[in-house]
Amino acid sequence: MEKMTLEEKVGQMHQIAGNDAVSGPLNPSSNDGEDLRRGLVGSMLNVVGADKTYKYQKIVVEESRLGIPLIFGHDVIHGCKTIFPIPLAESCSWDLDIIKRSARISAIEASAMGLHWTFAPMVDIARDPRWGRIAEGGGEDTYLGSLIAAARVKGFQGDDLNSLDTVAACAKHFAAYGAAEAGRDYNQVDISENNLRNIYLPPFKSALDAGVASFMNAFNTLNGIPATINELLVKSILKDEWKFDGIIVSDYNSIGELIQHGVAADKKECAELAANALCDMDMSGYCYRDHLVELVKEGIVSEVIVDSAVEKILTLKYKLGLFDDPYRYCKPNRESEIILSHTNRQVARECARKSIVLLKNEGTLPLTKSSAIRKIALIGPLANNKFDMLGSWYCAGDENDVVSFYDGLKNRFGSDYEINYCKGCEIDSEVKEDFSEAIGLAEKSDLIFAFVGEAGLMSGEASCRTNILLPGNQLELLKALKQTGKKLIVALSNGRPLEINWIEENADAILETWFLGIEAGNALAEVISGDFNPSAKLTVSFPRNVGQIPIYYNHLNTGRPLYESPNEHYRSRYLDSSVEPLYPFGYGLSYTKFEFSNFSLSKNKIAEIEELVASVDIKNIGEISGEEIVQLYIHDKVATLSRPVRELKAFKKISLQAGETKKVKFSLSDEDFKYYDKNNKWNIEPGIIEIFVGANSQDLLMKEIEITK
Ligand code: BGC
Repeated sequence: MEKMTLEEKVGQMHQIAGNDAVSGPLNPSSNDGEDLRRGLVGSMLNVVGADKTYKYQKIVVEESRLGIPLIFGHDVIHGCKTIFPIPLAESCSWDLDIIKRSARISAIEASAMGLHWTFAPMVDIARDPRWGRIAEGGGEDTYLGSLIAAARVKGFQGDDLNSLDTVAACAKHFAAYGAAEAGRDYNQVDISENNLRNIYLPPFKSALDAGVASFMNAFNTLNGIPATINELLVKSILKDEWKFDGIIVSDYNSIGELIQHGVAADKKECAELAANALCDMDMSGYCYRDHLVELVKEGIVSEVIVDSAVEKILTLKYKLGLFDDPYRYCKPNRESEIILSHTNRQVARECARKSIVLLKNEGTLPLTKSSAIRKIALIGPLANNKFDMLGSWYCAGDENDVVSFYDGLKNRFGSDYEINYCKGCEIDSEVKEDFSEAIGLAEKSDLIFAFVGEAGLMSGEASCRTNILLPGNQLELLKALKQTGKKLIVALSNGRPLEINWIEENADAILETWFLGIEAGNALAEVISGDFNPSAKLTVSFPRNVGQIPIYYNHLNTGRPLYESPNEHYRSRYLDSSVEPLYPFGYGLSYTKFEFSNFSLSKNKIAEIEELVASVDIKNIGEISGEEIVQLYIHDKVATLSRPVRELKAFKKISLQAGETKKVKFSLSDEDFKYYDKNNKWNIEPGIIEIFVGANSQDLLMKEIEITK
């Protein structure tokens, strides 16, 4: 750093965008080529591939005065070349090991494709399915979201950032981005500090405790102040309380957008506010590049701030081994050996089958060879579709590497059944031209498999919806197919919960597949055949209609709860809809059935700090083996703040043979009963706590415990 000029230091804080992927506005008046040569760029995003990253690295290393290597960042969100299920899907596995392994493989591939830094995990809690970015996170629950955040950080970063196959992770978007008003992307967020601390921040803290190397600011304002310059978030919480000493990167031009937010008059003021708010790197905003040197010279921003940012950025480059060998991540041979390997595909398939949620099954699944079924019709715009299986943020994924549902089912069942396909309609169109062909095929078949849902890019950034019905005329197609009187199985592909009441009432079976990535077809075939017994559970509630949104399981009771209020009329409810979700958080079926019994607690009174053991017997009462995700929730009945009616505090995924019973035990400590109290202190309060165990957030057994001083 002693050798660096102020201009070169500020250069390290400037990140420019390539155009392998476009994730924001490009700056037309930039002079990036010249800046690279002059050592005025510290990092690039949206450049992927050993060759391409090498090209830029070479310019900087060989032509700039100090030859400080670039750090290449990119959105490796659910796979790099081998595309895994979207994060929301993966979260439904409740399987932290597979989630970590998928991040590990993503990092292995990313590091072989020239990347050093992923802008993941996205750990935003999201309770609004209209918000397209719900697809990128771990669902609506803080506890599960926190565990997933840590698993993904560990997967990306491994044990040592200096290993060639690890990449730096980034916890984003700090913070509360998922609470965007009306589910509209980039919209304002206005929530209490208490809600922020109890609901939205824990996954970030968990990422930090897992050693995450960087944080990304969020686009939104939080209580009127843009997150990028929000003192409470960055200075008070992230720095002072949590002692985070890694890099903070802005979101894409979130510094420049301080103008549109109406808190800065021009880019110079943007740079001043962001630097003084300790944002270390300006992602593609060109505010630091154009104004920070001047601001330091004028004494408006202290050089200490610049030095501290540069020290962190260079330290990360050292940790990644870039000063030893700036080209270590961009070797074409290694790239071609590693990406899309057989093992990587196998893990993607495992992850995909573990992400499929069985929402309904009237005995139609699994498909067992029976004389009654000879011909199967695969119908719908997502049946023989490769591109949409990739979902949003598909990084270097290629649709040619995708096994479509049609291919997967044909491979698995082609010799047992006659399998025919007809698209029937587009994903989002009013044209009905192909309906008659689809109906004709259905009439000639013994079973209809309908593949409906959203396009992969109907969720993700800037992809919000005000209605969450099936787009276009897909529902009409389903209704027409139902008219044939044939058995109807519906497989959904989507990046958010959809409104599917008609399907719930009319289909014989429903599979939620989200977007499963490149092994979609093979994974689905394993589930349909029964080779794999579905075990996933929803990590987000499915509303019955858009008017119920936001709807989430861990809500407060209200003063006039529906089931307890003495008066028929004055209750917290809707006149025209149930208040219950269609499917609750934690819900998902298996091909077998489980029975919960003998729920007991080791004590009915505990003093703070004492351990409590909750145990319950689970019996597989069906005919085949299967896995159950046993969930434990609490409800603090009388506290100084109104507490959620249920809060997930523990879970275990267990496997049971037919007829087998297992006792599941959960150990709870006083940490599990703490929350941010009215003074925003992490605290435990004496009183009665209800403890629940069960198969989802609604079907539960309950016991009470008293916490004494
Ligand atoms: C998104 C970030 C992403 C960045 C870089 C932004 O628009 O909000 O999540 O990491 O672009 O692609």
